[in-house]
This record gives sequence, structure tokens and C-alpha cells, in this order.
Amino acid sequence: MASSFSPLIYFLPLLLLDPLFSQANLHRSKTLLKSSLMSQPSTNATIPPTLFFEVTKPINVPNTNPCTLSVLQHDFGFTYGKPPVLANYNFPSDCPHQEFSRIVLEWNATCKGRQFDRIFGVWLSGVELLRSCTAEPRATGIVWSVKKDVTRYSSLLLLNKTQTFAVYLGNLVDQTYTGVYHVNVTIYFYPAVEKVNHFDEKWENLGSGVGSQADLIIPFSRDLPLNDGLWYEIENATDVKVKEFEIPQNVYRAVLEVYVSFHENDEFWYGNLPNEYIAANNLTGFAGNGPFREVVVSLDGEVVGAVWPFTVVYTGGINPLLWRPTSAIGSFDLPTYDIEITPFLGNILDGKTHKLSFGVTNALNVWYIDGNLHLWLDSKSAKTDGKLLQHDVVPLGVSSVSDFKGLNGTFVTNTTRFISSTGWVKSTYGMVTTTSIQNLSYSNSMVMGKDGNLQIVNQTIHFDDFVYVKMPASNVKSEKSLKRFLFYLYSDNLDQGNGTSLSVANFTLGFNEKKFKDADARSPNSSLRNLQEGNGVMVVKDNLVVSGVASTQQTYNYDGSKFCYFRNVSSSNYTILYDEVRNTCNKRTNSHFGFGLYRWWPFLDRKAFLESHVIDPNGN
Ligand SMILES: *[C@@H]1O[C@H](CO)[C@@H](O)[C@H](O)[C@H]1NC(C)=O
Ligand SMILES: *[C@@H]1O[C@H](CO)[C@@H](O)[C@H](O)[C@H]1NC(C)=O
Ligand SMILES: *[C@@H]1O[C@H](CO)[C@@H](O)[C@H](O)[C@H]1NC(C)=O
Ligand SMILES: *[C@@H]1O[C@H](CO)[C@@H](O)[C@H](O)[C@H]1NC(C)=O
Ligand SMILES: *[C@@H]1O[C@H](CO)[C@@H](O)[C@H](O)[C@H]1NC(C)=O
Ligand SMILES: *[C@@H]1O[C@H](CO)[C@@H](O)[C@H](O)[C@H]1NC(C)=O
Ligand SMILES: *[C@@H]1O[C@H](CO)[C@@H](O)[C@H](O)[C@H]1NC(C)=O
Ligand SMILES: *[C@@H]1O[C@H](CO)[C@@H](O)[C@H](O)[C@H]1NC(C)=O
Ligand SMILES: *[C@@H]1O[C@H](CO)[C@@H](O)[C@H](O)[C@H]1NC(C)=O
Ligand SMILES: *[C@@H]1O[C@H](CO)[C@@H](O)[C@H](O)[C@H]1NC(C)=O
Ligand SMILES: *[C@@H]1O[C@H](CO)[C@@H](O)[C@H](O)[C@H]1NC(C)=O
Ligand SMILES: *[C@@H]1O[C@H](CO)[C@@H](O)[C@H](O)[C@H]1NC(C)=O
Repeated sequence: MASSFSPLIYFLPLLLLDPLFSQANLHRSKTLLKSSLMSQPSTNATIPPTLFFEVTKPINVPNTNPCTLSVLQHDFGFTYGKPPVLANYNFPSDCPHQEFSRIVLEWNATCKGRQFDRIFGVWLSGVELLRSCTAEPRATGIVWSVKKDVTRYSSLLLLNKTQTFAVYLGNLVDQTYTGVYHVNVTIYFYPAVEKVNHFDEKWENLGSGVGSQADLIIPFSRDLPLNDGLWYEIENATDVKVKEFEIPQNVYRAVLEVYVSFHENDEFWYGNLPNEYIAANNLTGFAGNGPFREVVVSLDGEVVGAVWPFTVVYTGGINPLLWRPTSAIGSFDLPTYDIEITPFLGNILDGKTHKLSFGVTNALNVWYIDGNLHLWLDSKSAKTDGKLLQHDVVPLGVSSVSDFKGLNGTFVTNTTRFISSTGWVKSTYGMVTTTSIQNLSYSNSMVMGKDGNLQIVNQTIHFDDFVYVKMPASNVKSEKSLKRFLFYLYSDNLDQGNGTSLSVANFTLGFNEKKFKDADARSPNSSLRNLQEGNGVMVVKDNLVVSGVASTQQTYNYDGSKFCYFRNVSSSNYTILYDEVRNTCNKRTNSHFGFGLYRWWPFLDRKAFLESHVIDPNGN
């Protein structure tokens, strides 16, 4: 049965990410194990390793000499199923500075031979700093470098005590899968040019947290014997991971940062088939539950936020040749998602234990999730007060159309979500009232054709966050982030009639975000349009990938208020065809980047919004 559904098969199982790969997937792993067995040239030490990369803008660091800390050097060989690799972390004692305006984590790695893409996580004292995927090596070797701005973890990174640094990367090495990942992790501390410590600054970049660093970060990661950090594994739709926690009683702001990645049966959740189709066609071994997923975050049993994740494709996904050397958007530095928790502080400032939980709607095995609660503390007071004034969770709206005959069919799934909350917190800074809103919509259309040999998926997620803060001086600060996640895949399987088939895949992947420092402003403070398009062919014989070629084009267009970054790069068969980089800003046109008129209906007018939603804490 399986061999007649190759697009499903090759679309789905190109990787082996989970060390605890279940028996139930063995029939899949058989095909998948072969997919990285491309015929490889013999090793030739004179050929330099290929540089793999994810296109992203450079980190804006000050023109100062950083203090450098080599925190870990490790060769990840047979790390499958073992505990995370640990290292002692100490802020460099020889560093003469105390204030840093930028802290950058750098992951450098080399690998040679044959290996799958492996997901990995990096934690400090249980707080996740980076979620990433390794590049798939080639016989002549590869090298890659990931840099991440980790300034938002400053309070942790600058602690003057020994902490545990942990990396989990489950790899398997045997005679076939020979790739050992040689890794160095380095942290660079860039001293500040000038000191910043104003209260208002702490509300800069609301919601994103970046640029305004919390005073304390509480990890919501797995309790190991050493509590060094590891993601939770969410295995199904009813699997909810709960962690009990307490916060100090002088918190005045709280943001939960969520890390998420999806694997095995849900690695390509956006292409998963509806269960009724699977059942009607007596299919076995296909990932179902349809193509919609959401990560739901609850506090003491109440939904406080949702994450509709970006469709990160790992370096073995769809067709591994697509990602050599240009890796998929987000694959080397998976996006994280912030949920403003401040409105709920009134419920948890009592010094008692509370429960935070993660679940995933429609989940199949397996989702790796954890979170960091960023807390801002009132240094002049031992106790702040707060009250939740309003909390509205509109139930998930789902509309779907399913129309199929045999293995041919069309499926549309549309969903919407709206979560809002308002609460005040009183600290020595005064009374601050915060409103947080998430407005999400999702549309997925899937076509199955040619009796299951053809699959077309077209998905768009609109993920919009708003935070309004009424400051003590009655001024209002606000922020919004409008995100558009695009995924399109055309995947066809052409049977050649001699045990050989051609697997053809065209894809589009888009990550667009507009950020506003004033939620009512017409023009964004920054905008990103990041688009990849590619096509590839694999020749498959008896479930073995024997050859193939793929090419990928990417345009990355970042327009910030202070700096711009543009890159247009194209690669094919390991070779860069062209690569254009610019870091000058074009004169800003009235471009809204095809976002169209976003749905901002609840608060087109801030005054109306404030009147209707922010209840003055002094006047009840
Ligand atoms: C390795 O590559 C170099 C340059 O491409 C070539 O001159 C040499 O013959 C190769 N050696 C082997 C053993 O293939
Ligand atoms: C890591 O790789 C980058 C890119 O090649 C390089 O600039 C940097 O110096 C490397 N870091 C270390 C510690 O070697
Ligand atoms: C890691 O650092 C060591 C020591 O500086 C160096 O020899 C090695 O090449 C580095 N490896 C990578 C992958 O950067
Ligand atoms: C860090 O702690 C050590 C001992 O606990 C102390 O001697 C040192 O002065 C501290 N350094 C800073 C920068 O606070
Ligand atoms: C869901 O996963 C949890 C955790 O592994 C397990 O205890 C539970 O039995 C599973 N439920 C179903 C319906 O499979
Ligand atoms: C599925 O199995 C049932 C029961 O064995 C059978 O009646 C039905 O015809 C099968 N359907 C297909 C599409 O094979
Ligand atoms: C789903 O959303 C798309 C795009 O917004 C729309 O064209 C389509 O009519 C919707 N379909 C259903 C069944 O709601
Ligand atoms: C499915 O569609 C293909 C054309 O794409 C057609 O040849 C085939 O007969 C259809 N199968 C059914 C069961 O309608
Ligand atoms: C995907 O669907 C959107 C509408 O939801 C449409 O505008 C777009 O053209 C479609 N993309 C492709 C490649 O068909
Ligand atoms: C199978 O058939 C295709 C097209 O007919 C041909 O290109 C290919 O070489 C054949 N492969 C084998 C292994 O016979
Ligand atoms: C797939 O990509 C190839 C090469 O760019 C193109 O010729 C073909 O039309 C594309 N097919 C679809 C369905 O997008
Ligand atoms: C890909 O590049 C290799 C050399 O690196 C070459 O041997 C091969 O023919 C190329 N394949 C295609 C389809 O261009």
C-alpha cells in the first residue's frame, strides 16, 4: 500500500529526529532511513567543507570589544537517548565591564559523512536559549554557524555564580550514519556604550521582550534530576504538561516565551490528512488529525494564550537537497512566541503555588515544548498588587469542507482565535494597566489528486498580537506584531513503471512580520518579508532515493527604523547561483507588503478601545 502513495511518504518521513523513535513508525523509518543515502562522492580532504546557512539579518552589535566566553566544546556522536551534555557556566571573571547592550550566543559546528537532521536545544539553568536543527552533512564535510541575540536573558547570563549549561542533541552514529557533530558554543558580551535603566525603557518592545530585559527568568522545562533543562514531549491531543511554580511577590510585568518544535507524525502537521479520509480509504500508517494545530497555554486551568507556530521545515524535510546550502526559514533558529502574562499577575502575586500548562490541539506524537517566564521586579518594594479585570477567550472557530472520492479530494480547514485580557498592577512605579490581545486566523486548503500521488497544500496563518499599557502618567504605550506565515507545497509522484518513481516537490515558505511600537500607527517600525521558493526532484527506486537535484531562491527584506537588510540568494545542487546583499534602506514607499488591510476592527480608534477595555483601576 505504501509504495503507491509516495508523495505522502516522501513528504512525511524524511527525518529521524527523535531518539525515542517509536516502533509504530518503523515502516516509515524504513523509507526515511534511505532518504539521506544519496550517492555521495568519496571523501577528499582537499575539498573544503561546504558552508551551510540560514538567511537572516546580522545582529546589530555596538562597536565595542566584546568579552568572550567559550562555554562548550563537544563532539555529538552517539548521544541518542542520553542526558543532555553539560558544562559549567561562569560569567567571564576577567571581563572588566558590568553593563552590556548586546549578548550574542554563537553555535559553530562541522560535520562530515552521512547523518540526519537532528533537533537540539540549548539551556542555561533550565532556561532555553536556542532551539535549532543541525544541517545534514555531506561526504566532503560541512560547516555552519548560528548566531542568536540572547540579550533578553541578561539577568541569567550575568549572574555571578556557577550555572549549568546544557545541550541536548540526540545523534546516532553507526557504520551508515557516520556524521559526528563537532560543536563549539561561544558567548559574546558587548559592553554598553551608555547605561540604560529608565523605567519606561523596561516597557520598550512590549511583548517581544527583546531590548527590555527581565530581572528574573523562571524556566518551564522538564524537571530532570539535575533540573538542567529539557523540553516536554507532548504526545497527543489530551496530553497536557503542567508545571507548578511560584513567583516573587514584587513582580510588575510578566511575559511567557514559548519554544516549540514538531516531529515524527506531526513534523508536517500542515499536510496531515483528515481522519475520515484515512478511515474511508483504509489507510494505515499515515499521520492524521487533519492539518490544524495550536499550542494552548493555560494558567491555573484558564487559557491565557495560544501559539500557532510557523511551519519550520527541518534540513531533511520535503527534499533534503532543497536545503543545501540555504537552510529553511527558521530551521537554524526556531522562532519563539511571546505571550503577555501581566494582566494575570493579580492572580499569582499571592506567594502561592500556581500551575502553568502546555497542550497542543489535535497533536500527534510528538511536540517538544517548553517556556521561559520573564519577570520584571520592583526593586523598591517587596510586594506589588494586581487585579485581573477582564479575560475573554473566544472558543476556537472552525469551519471546514471535506470532499473526496476514493483517494482524490479537496479539504479546506479555516480557524480563528481571539484571546484578550486586561489587568492592573500597582508597584512603586505606580498603577499600570495592561491589555493583551491575540487575534489569529488560519486557512489551509489541501488537494489530493491522482489517486493519492499528488498533494497540494496551501496554508496561511495570520498571527497578530497587541499589547496596550496605560502608564502611571496616563500615557499609553502600545505595541503590535502582525505575522503572516505562508506555506505552499506541490508534491507529485510520477511512477516510471519499472520500480522507479520521480518525486517532484515545489514549495513556498514565507515568514512576514510587521512590528509597530504604536499599535495605532499606520506604518510599522520594522517589517520583514522573508520568502523562499524552491523545487526539487528525487529519483526513488524501491523506496531508496538514488539521485536528485533541487534549487531554492530566497528574498529576505528587512526594513527597520534604523537599518535595513536585503538579501536575494539562489542555490542549486550545493552551489550558490547568485547572492545579492544590501544594507541600505530604500525610500519607504507606502508599501504594506501585500498584507492587505489587516483586521484591526476592535480598536480602530485607541480612545474607543481605552474606553471600552481599560477600566480605570482607581475608579473601579
Ligand atoms: C581531491 O581533489 C583534488 C582537487 O579537486 C584532486 O586534485 C585530487 O586528485 C583529489 N583526490 C582524490 C583522492 O580524489
Ligand atoms: C564561528 O564561525 C564564524 C563564521 O565562520 C566565525 O566568524 C567565528 O569566528 C567562529 N567562532 C569561533 C569561536 O571560532
Ligand atoms: C572549536 O574550537 C577548537 C579550539 O579552538 C577548534 O580547534 C575547532 O576547530 C573549533 N570547531 C568548530 C566547529 O568551530
Ligand atoms: C562574584 O562573586 C565572587 C565570590 O562570590 C566575588 O569575589 C566577586 O567580587 C563577585 N564579582 C562580581 C563582579 O560581583
Ligand atoms: C496521551 O499521551 C499521554 C502521555 O504519554 C498518555 O498517558 C495518554 O494515555 C495518551 N492518550 C491517548 C488517548 O493516547
Ligand atoms: C475498507 O475496508 C472495508 C472493510 O474491510 C471494506 O468494506 C471497504 O471496501 C474498504 N475500502 C476501501 C476503499 O478499500
Ligand atoms: C476559508 O478561508 C479562505 C481564505 O480566507 C476562503 O477563501 C474560504 O472561502 C474559506 N472557506 C471556508 C469553508 O470557510
Ligand atoms: C482521481 O483523479 C485522477 C486524475 O487526477 C483520475 O485519473 C482518477 O480516476 C480519479 N480517481 C477516482 C477514484 O475518481
Ligand atoms: C494560496 O491561497 C491563497 C489564498 O488563501 C492564494 O492567494 C494564493 O494564490 C494561493 N497560492 C497558490 C500557490 O496557489
Ligand atoms: C526506469 O524508467 C525510466 C523512464 O522510463 C528510465 O529513465 C529509468 O532509467 C529506468 N530505471 C531503471 C532502473 O530501469
Ligand atoms: C514546479 O517548479 C518547476 C520548476 O520551477 C516548474 O516548471 C513547475 O511549473 C512547477 N510546478 C508547479 C505545480 O508549481
Ligand atoms: C550536481 O553537482 C555535481 C557536482 O557537485 C555534479 O556531479 C552533478 O552532475 C550535478 N547534478 C546536476 C543535476 O546538475
